[in-house]
Amino acid sequence: MAIEKVGVVGCGLMGSGIAQVAAQAGCHVIVREVSQPLVDKGLQAIEKNLGRLVEKGKLSAADRDQIRGRLHGTTSLEDLRDRDFVIEAIIEQLPAKKELFLALDQICPRHTIFASNTSSISITEMAVVTKRPDRFVGMHFFNPVPVMQLVEVIRTIATDPKVFDEIVAFAGKLGKTAVRTTDRTGFIVNRLLVPYILDAVRALEEGVASIEDIDNSMKLGCGHPMGPLTLLDFVGLDTTYYISLVMFDEFKEKRFAAPPLLKRMVLAGWNGRKAGRGFYDYSDPANPKPMQLT
Ligand code: 3HC
Repeated sequence: MAIEKVGVVGCGLMGSGIAQVAAQAGCHVIVREVSQPLVDKGLQAIEKNLGRLVEKGKLSAADRDQIRGRLHGTTSLEDLRDRDFVIEAIIEQLPAKKELFLALDQICPRHTIFASNTSSISITEMAVVTKRPDRFVGMHFFNPVPVMQLVEVIRTIATDPKVFDEIVAFAGKLGKTAVRTTDRTGFIVNRLLVPYILDAVRALEEGVASIEDIDNSMKLGCGHPMGPLTLLDFVGLDTTYYISLVMFDEFKEKRFAAPPLLKRMVLAGWNGRKAGRGFYDYSDPANPKPMQLT
């Protein structure tokens, strides 16, 4: 079955990126948010991204207009009733996700495949609230979605192998490279990335080096596009802290335990770039300055 009609629930950073790449790939997309201002904000972010591509000559104005024509916003879940595929990218809270999938299960026909873009919540725990755990997968995109090439496709023990293959193929249609993985908290990337980032915070706490020198080490010594503390500011300290809690709870391994400094910064609301400060101060966003933290 070809996936042509796509529903995206949540039009924040990740949801708007997923909606954009799906519409660019020729899908007809309906994106749902809880209020009209949030729908408008998400669609404006997509509009801005597409505008940048047109300015750079990477997309023609005519193609941009066609993409726009394939993208619609709504506040009503009922509007997703004819979708082939629905992916959620809402708040990382299990009760909210369960409630959403319970409702979608009533609204959508049997053939609709459900996916979650969660980075840490068990796919199985969401799938079992529906009557279609065989048609339920994880599809984990990376920030910024239009730029990052990878998608992790996650199967549970209940996922139909044909559905899994279909979603791997769908990721390819979106211009992404899919990797196949199983429903273990953190999947592949966060299993490796989270301990690395947490270790960078521990190195800072222990006085190994300054914020800038830790970041420069991995940028200049290992060719990473961003140092670990810049990346932590980019992903969000609150998001990373939450992921580490879930991973620690699952595996009880010290490498997933959040260092005290990270917890204190989250308590203070210093959640990184989106909050104006984290490991860096973003008062001048083009020229972030390292904070005095230790
Ligand atoms: N949306 C769309 N396009 C964007 C963008 C955004 N938010 N941010 C940057 N871009 C585009 C730019 O327009 C530019 O395009 P061009 O090559 O056509 O001109 C290109 O990306 C490069 O951008 P810049 O020149 O402005 O800056 P950089 O070269 O520093 O690249 C970056 C920015 C792509 C974000 C790069 O620094 C990077 O790859 N950083 C690492 C990001 C990363 O690791 N993401 C994964 C986070 S983990 C995650 O998401 C999982 C979760 O579960 C935690």
